[in-house]
Amino acid sequence: MFRQVSRVAVAPRLARSYAIAGQFTGSKGANGKYTVTLIEGDGIGPEIAEAVKQVYSAAQVPIDWEPVDVTPLLIDGKTTLPQPAIDSVNKNLVALKGPLATPVGKGHTSMNLTLRRTFNLFANVRPCKSIVGYKTPYDNVDTVLIRENTEGEYSGIEHTIVPGVVQSIKLITKPASEKVIRYAFEYAKQIGKPHVLVVHKASIMKLSDGLFVNTAREIGKEYPDVKLDFELLDNTALKMTADPTQYNEIVMVMPNLYGDIMSDLASGLIGGLGLTPSGNMGNKVSIFEAVHGSAPDIAGKGLANPTALLLSSCMMLRHMNLSSDADRIEKAVLKTIASGPENRTGDLKGTATTKHFTEEIIKNL
Ligand code: NAI
Repeated sequence: MFRQVSRVAVAPRLARSYAIAGQFTGSKGANGKYTVTLIEGDGIGPEIAEAVKQVYSAAQVPIDWEPVDVTPLLIDGKTTLPQPAIDSVNKNLVALKGPLATPVGKGHTSMNLTLRRTFNLFANVRPCKSIVGYKTPYDNVDTVLIRENTEGEYSGIEHTIVPGVVQSIKLITKPASEKVIRYAFEYAKQIGKPHVLVVHKASIMKLSDGLFVNTAREIGKEYPDVKLDFELLDNTALKMTADPTQYNEIVMVMPNLYGDIMSDLASGLIGGLGLTPSGNMGNKVSIFEAVHGSAPDIAGKGLANPTALLLSSCMMLRHMNLSSDADRIEKAVLKTIASGPENRTGDLKGTATTKHFTEEIIKNL
């Protein structure tokens, strides 16, 4: 499945940090450009998507955006995506996605989960790297975690047994565990961090996390050149906050909920959610998105930091073998952040609006 390695395998440190593994099989259109599906999303989504579009236009990246609407549809009691959105992603094989809001405790199933399930995006790659020029307690964080993306605690299987007693089922299957763990091993080899750490809680969830752990042991035998270790989630959380750099040379892989929480924790250590990108990887289709949500508290105010979506788009470009465009945009973003608080957004203790920050990036291209 991952026989054909991506070009990031031997790329320099910059590329290694926001690397992605997997195979892109899309092709350019007659105009010499790729078409990429764009889901602008909710809340700050349209503002940060606009920043990406402006930077891409200025950088002359050979991409045409195909915006789609993902307003949820309820068909036979099941939340589904509009068919034109499904068709667009299946045709283009790659999408960039803004955050989608999910109602709490009621309403439709999360459209994020629906997208991941519809396209079987089984692995969510979440790199987290210190931003040079933005001081945090740790200067050299360069971690990556891979989150199982389709099941676990996010299976959405819940029932009321009797009033006041509810049951939520954490589903772990061997096929889904195999896919994400195999991806982690391949990724570890490709980016030159031949050490996989399985983060789990099999001490308590002996069957479900136990299956995840045992599957990793089996797959590990196929990769004698990659070191395999296991660690309890609570211990990882403690060690990560004490000194995240001890995970720099390791690729972490973990069930769904743990990956969700640990990646936000890691974001907090390098300056917050405005900075961390991700890639949702499937066999055929990939969707790139920021780790953060729709930030309703700042939506529509021109204050959002588009860095996480821009870095997600750089992961996407590397996946599409457009690494030189990715490097150029990434360098311009990092240079802008390092240039001082007047050019940074409020989440990074700066005074810049999204518009000003975007204009500075374009100047730095
Ligand atoms: P959130 O990530 O939207 O916001 C948490 C905090 O981080 C807020 O103070 C927000 O202002 C700040 N923040 C996030 N992104 C930022 C950015 N780019 N620039 C500056 N500040 C930023 O998390 P929250 O508030 O818990 O969730 C809001 C909605 O987003 C919910 O409906 C949730 O379900 C959804 N969500 C969607 C995700 C996705 O589409 N992948 C991921 C996480 C949450």
